[in-house]
Amino acid sequence: MRVLNIVSSPRGDRSASVAVADAFFEALRVRHPDVQVDTLDVWAEALPEFDERASSAKYKAARGGDLDEAERAVWATIRGLADRFRLADRIVVGVPMWNWAYPYKLKQLIDLVTHRGLLFEVKGDTIGPSLDVPLGIAFLVRGQAYPEWGGRPPKEFDHQSSYIDFWLRLIGVREVRTLVVEHTWGDLAGPAVEWGRAQARAMAADF
Ligand SMILES: Cc1cc2nc3c(=O)[nH]c(=O)nc-3n(C[C@H](O)[C@H](O)[C@H](O)COP(=O)(O)O)c2cc1C
Repeated sequence: MRVLNIVSSPRGDRSASVAVADAFFEALRVRHPDVQVDTLDVWAEALPEFDERASSAKYKAARGGDLDEAERAVWATIRGLADRFRLADRIVVGVPMWNWAYPYKLKQLIDLVTHRGLLFEVKGDTIGPSLDVPLGIAFLVRGQAYPEWGGRPPKEFDHQSSYIDFWLRLIGVREVRTLVVEHTWGDLAGPAVEWGRAQARAMAADF
């Protein structure tokens, strides 16, 4: 089994999402010693900007136009990143909540790889995935919890889970399991992360 492990916290050893994902992979390796984990750390990967050159490559690739040398180079990098998704039997993504959503570096990766003809297809008026990945997990961590706040329901503060779930399903992850770990900053952080690690270990049992 090959698992793509997307890391989107820049905090390394101090990261709650990395600690939770690490517990998951430790447990998974016990059950599946042959598991191959491809870790795609969006902060370490030197992702190209999705700039004018990359945009031009995308539109030319879509229309079958001739890419110049610089466009070919960036498009090859983008295809290389998308190939790592294609090779995966499972996808795991660790996501810190940043401003009620997710880190911009993760969105950079999403914008780099999520194109018609790469990770999804459009046929007529139907949009469908390019991947066929049976299962994925999103480890979602948040500094605090969201009870009713100033008369606003918790859902209003969550622009993290719905997009990550939507994106994974759109590209072809058939079942997306989610673990939300709250209170990962402040006094409650220690027990919160330990709780998350225990839940993650349990999730490795039928992955
Ligand atoms: C730029 C930034 C924005 C954040 N925004 C939120 C937020 O909107 N809501 C929240 O609950 N926590 C927020 N936090 C706290 C993080 O979600 C929390 O520290 C989490 O543990 C970060 O994940 P990590 O430990 O894997 O890096 C923010 C942290 C940073 C650095």
